[in-house]
Amino acid sequence: MPPPAPATVVIIDPRQVEAAALSPAEEQQAARFHFEQDARHWRACRSALRRILGDALALDPAAIRFDLGEHGKPLLPPPHDLLRFNLSHCRDLALVALSSAGPVGIDLEPADRGGSLLGCESGFCHPAELAALPERPEARAAALLELWTSKEALLKALGTGMSLPPESFSLAGDRTDHPRLREFRVHRLDHPALARHVARFAGPVAMAAPRVVSFST
Ligand SMILES: CC(C)(COP(=O)(O)OP(=O)(O)OC[C@H]1O[C@@H](n2cnc3c(N)ncnc32)[C@H](O)[C@@H]1OP(=O)(O)O)[C@@H](O)C(=O)NCCC(=O)NCCS
Repeated sequence: MPPPAPATVVIIDPRQVEAAALSPAEEQQAARFHFEQDARHWRACRSALRRILGDALALDPAAIRFDLGEHGKPLLPPPHDLLRFNLSHCRDLALVALSSAGPVGIDLEPADRGGSLLGCESGFCHPAELAALPERPEARAAALLELWTSKEALLKALGTGMSLPPESFSLAGDRTDHPRLREFRVHRLDHPALARHVARFAGPVAMAAPRVVSFST
C-alpha cells in the first residue's frame, strides 16, 4: 500500500483575506463578538477556510456546508467527508490543516505565551510531565508551551478538544500511549512566517510531516 498522502498546512494572515460569502449561521456567530475587530478576524479566518476548502474540492466557497462533531469540531458532511481539516487562530495569524488521509488537529500560539502558563502546570500536565519540567522559568515556560500546543493539537485531531482532560495523558516525544490518542503523532511546524509563533500539527501516526504553505488570495 502506498504511504498516505501528507497533509498540508496553510498559513493565513487574516488582514490580507478578502471576505467570502458566509452563511447566515456564520454571520450570527460573527455578530456575537463584543469587539468589531474580533468579528472581522473571525470572518476573515472563516472566509479563508471556505476558499481553501473550495479550492481543494473544486467547489464554490459559498457552497461549502459544515457539520459539527459531538464536541464542536467543524467537519465536512458527505460526500466530502474524506477531506479532513482543522483550524487554529491567534490574534495575528491562523492555520488551516488539510488531509485526505485521516483526522488532523492543529494549534497555534504566540511564541511568548509560555510565561502565562507558569503556575498553571497542573491544569494540563500529567504528573509524569510535572516531574520532568525544568526549574528555570525560561526553560520551563518553553517546555510548557511545547506540551500545551502538542496536547491541544492531539485533542483537536481526536475532536474532543479539552473535554478530554489534557492532564490525563502524558507525552513521550511526539506520541502518547493514551488509548484514544495513540493513533496520532505530533509534528512541530517550521516556516519563516511562523518565526514568532509555536505551532503543532497532529495526524495519523503513519502520516508524514505536513507541507506548510502560505495562503494566497
Ligand atoms: C477545541 C478547543 C481546544 C479550541 O480552543 P481555542 O482556544 O478556541 O483554539 P483554536 O484557535 O486553536 O481553535 C479554534 C478552532 O478549532 C475548531 N474546533 C472547535 N471545536 C473543536 C473540537 N472539539 N475539536 C477540534 N477542533 C475544534 C474550530 O474550527 C475553531 O475555530 P472557529 O471557532 O473559527 O470555528 C476548545 O474550544 C475546546 O476544547 N472545545 C471542546 C470542549 C467543549 O466541548 N467545550 C464547550 C464548547 S460549547
